Amino acid sequence: MKILAIETSCDETSVAVVENGCKIHSLVINSQIDIHKAFGGVVPEIAARSHIEVMIPVVKQALDEASLGWSNIDSIAVTQGPGLSGSLLIGALTARTLAWSMNKPLYPVHHILGHVYANWITEGPAYPSPYPKSVPKFPVLALIVSGGHTQLMLGLSHTDWSVIGRTSDDAVGEAFDKVAKVLGLPYPGGISISKLARSGDSSRYQLPTPKVAEKYGFSFSGLKTALLRAVQKECGKTHDFPSFELSPLLSDAQKADFSASFEKTAINYLVSKTKLAFEEFQPKTFILGGGVAASLPLRSALSSKLPLAIEYAPQILCTDNAAMIGARAYYQSLSEDPVDPRTLEIKPSWPL
Ligand code: KG4
Ligand code: ZN
Repeated sequence: MKILAIETSCDETSVAVVENGCKIHSLVINSQIDIHKAFGGVVPEIAARSHIEVMIPVVKQALDEASLGWSNIDSIAVTQGPGLSGSLLIGALTARTLAWSMNKPLYPVHHILGHVYANWITEGPAYPSPYPKSVPKFPVLALIVSGGHTQLMLGLSHTDWSVIGRTSDDAVGEAFDKVAKVLGLPYPGGISISKLARSGDSSRYQLPTPKVAEKYGFSFSGLKTALLRAVQKECGKTHDFPSFELSPLLSDAQKADFSASFEKTAINYLVSKTKLAFEEFQPKTFILGGGVAASLPLRSALSSKLPLAIEYAPQILCTDNAAMIGARAYYQSLSEDPVDPRTLEIKPSWPL
């Protein structure tokens, strides 16, 4: 089954054609990073407008790159939520229109499950990193880490996914982005911090490991504040000194050391909770998904701490993309009826 999938939950307009949940025929990702960079983060109104401008050309490009016409497309899939309302709306309206006018079944997909199912993709165009050789085996433990989410999930089958722990405040990617702002590094912060951390000394600043009551819960807002306090102290400033005036007072070496210290603390925290869940649930496969899964230090820390060989998805499939939506939609199509394209509503806040 060939599915044309659409993802517009945040600041990427992406369309892909994916076959049987595992093979990418085409994947187009139009990133708005350059547009939002000037504002230091995603501006929802601008994101929605940009989706409108590029949506149809991106659909056309995905079909052209797959060398397929509409007659070869079996179904349409779209991210229904969670995400930014204005952004989700453009993708959903496009998918509804295409499904209705082309008379194709329509499958709405949960964005986080999309991140999980990026790991079922084993074939596609050549990317810098290799595809996994085999698909995950249940039970699956998944750590999903992005700009909007941080959660541990347990999958017993394609129809049985549950969240065993989630962040009670900031998502880890959001914390990376906010810390990057304090250090005066460009958006998206995770990538900037990762790059700078390579030349930094992670033991120079001691940051506290966050504590939460729930065994598999996370919290990142305290860590972010601890970093801010440490920067204020290093600059000889008090707690009320504005965070956006701190970065010009820091040297490049201090920024690198703060980046390395923050990255190490955040990664060790994610890995320790994951290890705990691994020991309790004894999964056959471990999956890392979401934008922060692009972090190579996180991947190597997990590989060294978990007692099984982990195959990671290529980095391009970790950040938001439509191929992961097409992969999840295929497994939904095996057990779910398609929805009526005339009535599909978006779900900006959609707990799993
Ligand atoms: O999944 P995603 O593309 O969008 C959301 O659904 O949020 O994730 C984007 C997030 C951003 O917060 C970005 O800073 C973070 O992923 N990120 C990273 C790295 N690459 C992207 N965080 C840490 N290290 C990285 N290498
Ligand atoms: Zn995402």
